[in-house]
Amino acid sequence: MSIVIDSPLDMHLHLRDGDMLKVVAPLSATYFSGAIIMPNLIPPVTTKDEVISYKQRIIEASKDNSFNPYMTLFFKPTYSREFLSEVKDKISAIKLYPAGVTTNSDGGVTGFNIDELEDTLNSMSEFNIPLSIHGETNGFVMDREAEFASIYEMLASNFPNLKIIMEHITTRESVALLDRYENLYATITLHHLLITLDDVAGGMLQPHLFCKPIAKRPEDREALREVAFSGHPKVMFGSDSAPHPQDRKEASFCSAGVFTAPIALQLLTELFLENSNLDNLQKFISTNAQNIYDIEVPKKRVILEERDFIIPNRYGTVVPIYAGEQIKYSIKEIVC
Ligand code: DOR
Ligand code: ZN
Repeated sequence: MSIVIDSPLDMHLHLRDGDMLKVVAPLSATYFSGAIIMPNLIPPVTTKDEVISYKQRIIEASKDNSFNPYMTLFFKPTYSREFLSEVKDKISAIKLYPAGVTTNSDGGVTGFNIDELEDTLNSMSEFNIPLSIHGETNGFVMDREAEFASIYEMLASNFPNLKIIMEHITTRESVALLDRYENLYATITLHHLLITLDDVAGGMLQPHLFCKPIAKRPEDREALREVAFSGHPKVMFGSDSAPHPQDRKEASFCSAGVFTAPIALQLLTELFLENSNLDNLQKFISTNAQNIYDIEVPKKRVILEERDFIIPNRYGTVVPIYAGEQIKYSIKEIVC
């Protein structure tokens, strides 16, 4: 039996730059029609010129694949209406990082003072630029997302015309928050559908499953699965595939990030066929995102089949999730 996915989208992706970009961009570009590209480079992407040149480097690294990189800026409360009006056609969202919560986020927002943020957020509402947020505080690691909920509520109620994307949600409470505000949406990663904290640290430590936000409890994973498998229209797939070289993962001070991009479609197919259906997978992986972001996507049909596939031990210097393990589905054909 063949399984067909049309124009898959990855609404949260880290492609990095330089040599790493050259390794990982072709992988996403082969399997996906497009992706929202995270701006947390060193230094972060904060100007129109940087957006344009980074997009060009991504297109070059993507080889001949039809793949649309949807660019983002790294949120600064100093972005003026004039600046946003000039850059709005080059970006699909602006990503807000609270300072210091994850990789390369030091220049993020400190405190969430509405007076400081409102000019930029009002202009974003006016120009219909979605605000994408890494929703964690600097609190105790298991509580960071829950502690951020009040900030989501403050932003959603004060800026009702602003589309707010709660990135990589990991808790039951975040799932519940989605339906409480019309302007809240969410991405969910593959790894948070698959693992709990037990897989990361319950036995031998698994650095390749360590990420921010950290995977939570079984009941949290259950809530994420339920809402993703239902095809909920406010929920999109965002892999948060975040490559780090093997020596930065298998180390003390291990970097946060799980690399899933090249096997995401195969594993999502398995998960959805066992727990839901292909229609809801299509919604989760493309249709919902097209509606939420109001984007046209390159046509790409990915055909999978039930055939064992051994996940490679490495892509360049990057170790993927479940390296060396056998999974049930393989890519059969990609038609553009
Ligand atoms: O695990 C993560 N890795 N979470 C993030 O938010 C950032 C990402 C990265 O850039 O490595
Ligand atoms: Zn991310």
